[in-house]
Order: sequence, then structure tokens, then C-alpha cells
Amino acid sequence: ENADRAKLLEAYELAGKLYRYLLMNTAEGKPALDYLRSRGMTDALIELFGIGYAPAGWETLSKFLEGRQFPLPLLEQGGLISARQDGSGYFDKFRDRVMFPILDWKGQTIAFAARAMGDAQPKYLNSPESMLFHKSRTLYNLHLARPHIRKSQELVLFEGYMDVIKSWESGVTNGVATMGTALTAEHAEAIRRLADRVVVAYDGDGAGQTAAYKSIPILENAGLAVRVALLPGNLDPDEYIRKHGSERYVREVITSAVPSIKYKLLYYRKNFRLQEDGEKLRYIRQAFKLIATIASPIEREHYVKELTNEFQLKFETAMQELNEIRLQSEKNERFGDNKDKPWNNVMN
Ligand code: GTP
Ligand code: MN
Ligand code: MN
Ligand code: MN
Ligand code: MN
Repeated sequence: ENADRAKLLEAYELAGKLYRYLLMNTAEGKPALDYLRSRGMTDALIELFGIGYAPAGWETLSKFLEGRQFPLPLLEQGGLISARQDGSGYFDKFRDRVMFPILDWKGQTIAFAARAMGDAQPKYLNSPESMLFHKSRTLYNLHLARPHIRKSQELVLFEGYMDVIKSWESGVTNGVATMGTALTAEHAEAIRRLADRVVVAYDGDGAGQTAAYKSIPILENAGLAVRVALLPGNLDPDEYIRKHGSERYVREVITSAVPSIKYKLLYYRKNFRLQEDGEKLRYIRQAFKLIATIASPIEREHYVKELTNEFQLKFETAMQELNEIRLQSEKNERFGDNKDKPWNNVMN
């Protein structure tokens, strides 16, 4: 078991080396290098993040590793190669793709994320779960970001690998990403061991914003203070940086990330047509329910004030409404009725 692990780690290491060599030094790798450059990747970034190229042939890696006496069944089990249906041997799993190595926190390569350059599907092909790689625990770039996370006590969470890399270049060096899967409680606990605070900087499209909304309770349950970055116009961080530059990105997206409660208020808002009185009142009630869940009285007052200013309500009326909501929930709690507990149902 342990010998297998060591052998597989060695295979991943060698595969990464081969892919890097092919990207930087061969005619075969040239289109991939052009692709990366067209996306604004410098040689320094390519080197730092260990990016490579898996060639189009069917047996480049498998023959390379076989020649170095690696047992092919182990490589298949480890997700580097695939077995032919007819049992006649093996073929490379990753072909004609840009290779992003996934490192564990110690800096050992444990998997790859492989991006197609054209229209090939899937866009990203990831290594499968293996004795080295557990998606629900792994965070991309944790190895490089770790010291920066510890120092700042803050971590920035992205959706995509490119977002992490371009943000790093912009000076956001405490960024990581999940492996194209939803954030898990295991991720959150791993983050909590390094930092007190998280900025969720997911894509500005609907999918990204919903994922950001869902990540909030997972992170807060682990004891993290959460802010959410607002990406305008459906952009993802990489696209925002390309369009508006690094300085503006750091200032207006990362530094301006809003507290989770503010984000939830903004998120709800989109579901109400506030020009209509009935809808407006429903939104205000919903917002009060949310504000009632805030533990700190000072913070509660802050958001009540924001709401009363915007909708020209009397502050006293608002506080009265808030207290009624809180009383009601306490009562429900006493009678064991969870259905009307705002701090449960606001998240639905
Ligand atoms: P680029 O187009 O290279 O900028 O990718 P992106 O990160 O902007 O992709 P997108 O926003 O569509 O998806 C976010 C993340 O989801 C990616 O970084 C991947 O981790 C993951 N992902 C996207 N497409 C796929 C896919 O087809 N398969 C898998 N397994 N993961 C994907
Ligand atoms: Mn701490
Ligand atoms: Mn996306
Ligand atoms: Mn994206
Ligand atoms: Mn992108």
C-alpha cells in the first residue's frame, strides 16, 4: 500500500515533468503554448504553476512510464492511463490537453486538471479519485497560497484554476479553488485550520452566484467569517482582470467584497419586483427575518438602518418588527417548532 503510494507519486511527478518539457520545448506543444499565451499566461506563470501539455498520441505517457519499469495496472488504478476494453493493453488518459498539476499541501503532484483547447468535451477533464487524490478535501494551489493565507488569516476561494492563477499575478496570492466540485464541510474545516476569514470570489454568472450563496453556511458552520466578492456582468475573475486590469480588480472586487449578510440581502432582492408595493413589503419582511438572525446587536442596528433609510420606514417601527420576529422564533424554539425559525428557513 505505502509502496504503491510512493510509486504512484513518483509517476505523477515524472508525468508532470514530461508534460512541462513537451509544452516548452517541442513543436507538438507549440499550439498549447500559443493557447496559454493567448490567455495572457507568461512563461513565469507557466513555470510557477507547473503547467504542461499532454500530446495527442495514445501511448506517449504509458510507454514513457512503462520504459521506466512502472507497473501499468498501478498507473491505471491511479488514473494516469486507461485499460483498453479488449484487454490488449493501456492508453493515455489525457490527450491533446493543457495540463494543470494539482499539488497537495506538501507540493507533491497528486492529480491533473486537463483543459481542452478547442471544443472537445469535457472542457476540463480531472484525474479520478485515487489513493492520492480526494476531491472533497483537495484545494487547488494550497501549496503556494498556504504561507500567504496564514500570514493574512484570510483565504480567497475561486471557482476556476485560471481565476486562481490570474489573481496570483494580480497580487492576490492567498487564492485557492475547489476541484470543479461543490465546496464541502471538509474543505471548510481545512480552511479554518489556516485562516479566520474567507472571501468567496465565484463567477458572476447565475451558477456562480448560487454556488456562492450555498457556500456561506458551509463556511460559517466551520467558524469562518465570510465575505463575498461581487463580479459584475457575468464575468469570472480571470475575465474581469483581462477587461479591467489588476489594480481595479483588487480594489473593486477583492477588497470590496461584502459581508455574507449583505450578500444574502442582495441575493434575495433579485427575486422581488420592488416597484410593486406588495413585493416590496414581502422583501422587507424577508430582509427583517434575515437581519433577525444576526447575533450582534450593533450589526443588527446597522442593517436595520440601511433598510429603513432605503424604504423610508421609521426606525422605531423597524426595531419593533425585528423584536417581534425574534420573540416569535424564541417561542417556536421553546415549543420545538423549527418551521418558522427564521434562522432555518431563510436559507431555503
Ligand atoms: P476557463 O474557460 O478555462 O476560464 O475555465 P473556468 O474556470 O472559467 O470554467 P467554468 O467557470 O466553466 O467552471 C469553473 C470550474 O468548474 C473549472 O475551473 C473546473 O474546475 C470546473 N469545470 C468546468 N467545466 C468542467 C468540465 O467539463 N468537467 C469538470 N470535471 N469540471 C469542469
Ligand atoms: Mn487564526
Ligand atoms: Mn463558472
Ligand atoms: Mn469561470
Ligand atoms: Mn474562466
